[in-house]
Amino acid sequence: MFEKTRYQLLLSYLAVLTVVLGTFTLTIRFFFIQSLKQQLIEKLTLLGEDESVDLTLKEGNFEIDIDFTSETLIARQQTIEWFDLQGKLIKLQGKETLNLPLSVEKSPQIQTGKIDIIAVTFPAIDKNTNRQVGYVRISQSLKDVNETVQKLDWGLGGGIAIALGLSSIGGIFLTRQAMEPIEQSFQRLKQFTADASHELRSPLMAIKSNAAVALKYKEGIRPKDAEKFEAIASAVSQMTSLTRDLLLLARSDRISSCDEWVRVDLGEILADLVQLYQPSASDREINLKLELIENFYLFGDASQVRRVFTNLIDNALQYTPKGGSIEVTTSLARKQLIVEVKDTGIGIAPEDLTRIFDRLWRADRSRSYWNGGSGLGLAIVKAIVENHGGSITVTSQLSVGSCFSVRLPVPT
Ligand SMILES: Nc1ncnc2c1ncn2[C@@H]1O[C@H](COP(=O)(O)OP(=O)(O)OP(=O)(O)O)[C@@H](O)[C@H]1O
Ligand SMILES: [Mg+2]
Repeated sequence: MFEKTRYQLLLSYLAVLTVVLGTFTLTIRFFFIQSLKQQLIEKLTLLGEDESVDLTLKEGNFEIDIDFTSETLIARQQTIEWFDLQGKLIKLQGKETLNLPLSVEKSPQIQTGKIDIIAVTFPAIDKNTNRQVGYVRISQSLKDVNETVQKLDWGLGGGIAIALGLSSIGGIFLTRQAMEPIEQSFQRLKQFTADASHELRSPLMAIKSNAAVALKYKEGIRPKDAEKFEAIASAVSQMTSLTRDLLLLARSDRISSCDEWVRVDLGEILADLVQLYQPSASDREINLKLELIENFYLFGDASQVRRVFTNLIDNALQYTPKGGSIEVTTSLARKQLIVEVKDTGIGIAPEDLTRIFDRLWRADRSRSYWNGGSGLGLAIVKAIVENHGGSITVTSQLSVGSCFSVRLPVPT
């Protein structure tokens, strides 16, 4: 029962951790890349401000003074371009050039593509006249930066995977520790309910038998007292069934063990129940019918399975007004037996649909359990169905009707 909660807790914990680690990693990655680019820009700026890339204008002709050979620039994955004041390319040295037009305002420029390139543009000042004669654009391939970032990605990705792996192991241990006290107190509560229900059985039996003895010799007591004894006897039988149901739910994890299971003819159980409830349905002018397919067998505890459908048909009868109809249909789908109990009764409000399987819950209009059931019926149905590896769902509409659908595994 707590397995699912533990699993959900672990998943939530891992999801939060993934978000935290992811944000942390992305932030580190972002600042690391920014810092690498900044370093590169500073390096290119130093080079641009160096005298080794001078441009001078002598008698209308440009003269370029460069200290590097093309080979040096290619080895450094750098390119130097000289432009006149109109942005026309005068000379280029290097290999990887930017395909973007010269832009003085937008410097550094970054070109992404097969090879990413970053470029910084500077005004070229003629040393002799101290006037700007053109522009120098120095670009460098971002191959090295990208390779470093790729290594960082691998490192961070591996780190996250290891951290998540270790956290999962730690998480399993922590969730187990966190759930242990809850599981223990739940077990104690269950034990208490089981013990209390069990202990209540003897005094209830005593009250019941004493009331029965008193009623056996009615003539010895006043008629008013006889009525009171009858009320006591009726209340005691309600309490007896309530304690029996509570005991069953408290021990729901051992409703019946698989060792005691046998091949159960569900078709026969349903036919029998419909026959049994036919008189009370007729009394209330309710049309109760069964659609049964052949070979409707399951593997389980016959009396518990019978109880499931007794409760469902009983509810349908209880909550369907005079003149309505109840249909019990059977079908087979994807290795599952499906039984639907559909009525044209008062229906269940959408906000109540999630609560009807809760223990002791009854819709407000029928709250008092002296006037009808205890509100344990559907909780017992759910516990038995789930214990048999099945599931139960409900669809309902107020004043239209309800449909309870039980799915149970086909025996293999
Ligand atoms: N077929 C139905 N149509 C409308 N409401 C239903 C139907 N079946 C169940 N309910 C609602 O769900 C509540 C819980 O049902 P449940 O069978 O658990 O308790 P109960 O019938 O009140 O008592 P008991 O313990 O005797 O079964 C009911 O009180 C009723 O309000
Ligand atoms: Mg009921």
